[in-house]
Amino acid sequence: MSKFLKKTLAIMCVFVLAIGAFVGCAKKEESKPAEADGDEKKEIVVGFSMDTLKEERWQKDRDILTARAKELGVKILIQAANGDDNKQIAQAENMISQGVDVLMVAPHNAEVAAAIVENAHAEGIPVLSYDRLIKNADVDLYVSFDNEKVGNLQGEYITKLVPKGNYVYIGGSPTDNNATLFKKGAMDILKPLVDSGDINIVYDQMSKDWQPSEAQKHMENALTANKNKVDAVICANDGTGGGAISALAEQQLVGKVPVTGQDAELAACQRIVEGQQSMTVYKPIPKLASTALDLAIKMANEEKIETNSTVENGKIDVPSYLLEPVVVDQENMMDTIIADGYHPFDEVYKNVPESERPKK
Ligand code: BGC
Repeated sequence: MSKFLKKTLAIMCVFVLAIGAFVGCAKKEESKPAEADGDEKKEIVVGFSMDTLKEERWQKDRDILTARAKELGVKILIQAANGDDNKQIAQAENMISQGVDVLMVAPHNAEVAAAIVENAHAEGIPVLSYDRLIKNADVDLYVSFDNEKVGNLQGEYITKLVPKGNYVYIGGSPTDNNATLFKKGAMDILKPLVDSGDINIVYDQMSKDWQPSEAQKHMENALTANKNKVDAVICANDGTGGGAISALAEQQLVGKVPVTGQDAELAACQRIVEGQQSMTVYKPIPKLASTALDLAIKMANEEKIETNSTVENGKIDVPSYLLEPVVVDQENMMDTIIADGYHPFDEVYKNVPESERPKK
């Protein structure tokens, strides 16, 4: 090699290394802008991957989280997958690649969503399972209500009203771990009465994607198969309860057959004060959303997380924070839903004649 060629090659090498170092620095600054300007703290970004916004409660979850994030000065990215597992994985992947600091997931499918946990962990992002548990995955934290207790409350309430007779169980989505827990909770209460022969479960089905139309079909089938001899209906939530009540309406049985629910949706609260639905289980969503967001921020900051339980998910005992659900019926509507401002008095009682409304 000539002297000239050696010299040219040496200069080129120095030049290439210099460019490499410059690009490296630029990249580092791009991913860590906070470090570039000293003490200034990097904005925390929280991702929230939702299954659905169909039920009213999920719209509350979204709205409260958005407002609370603003209040706390953190950025929140929210996407809902409309019950499509591949879409939920893709949306979560998108948030992961946008560099969220922590990912909250309310999974459509408890098992399939394990992939989301793996993908997030591959990028060092912790995962909070929101309201619904992700199964068979190294979930970092689970924030929800005591969901077996939701089922207990439904079972206890309705067996007090109807200690003997023909029961129908209309459950939620088979892919949602909560639906399994709600059913277990209710069946645990029913079991001794079934064993003693007082209660006969004449129909027991789950409803795909929690669809009220599926629940309505189940109720129609149950009524036909039993010649309308149904004494009580346990519906896992208000949406399915509404479906079952539509089927009861076709047979002029509304108000005659007790029906349970869950979520304290406005429509369900109205049905309760109008005597069409017996009860609902109220889960204060503002409490869930703010607890989850506060804990998610702590996870992002690698601070200590307070928990009050653990829940087994098929792989690990997931550190959990579980809140208490509350029974709501005609009797305590004022002290719960109205007192908390969950729904306005005028909306809940809008179809009740003024003379029959409770005093404000
Ligand atoms: C939630 C319920 C909700 C249902 C349907 C469950 O996982 O816990 O509050 O009604 O999903 O969205």
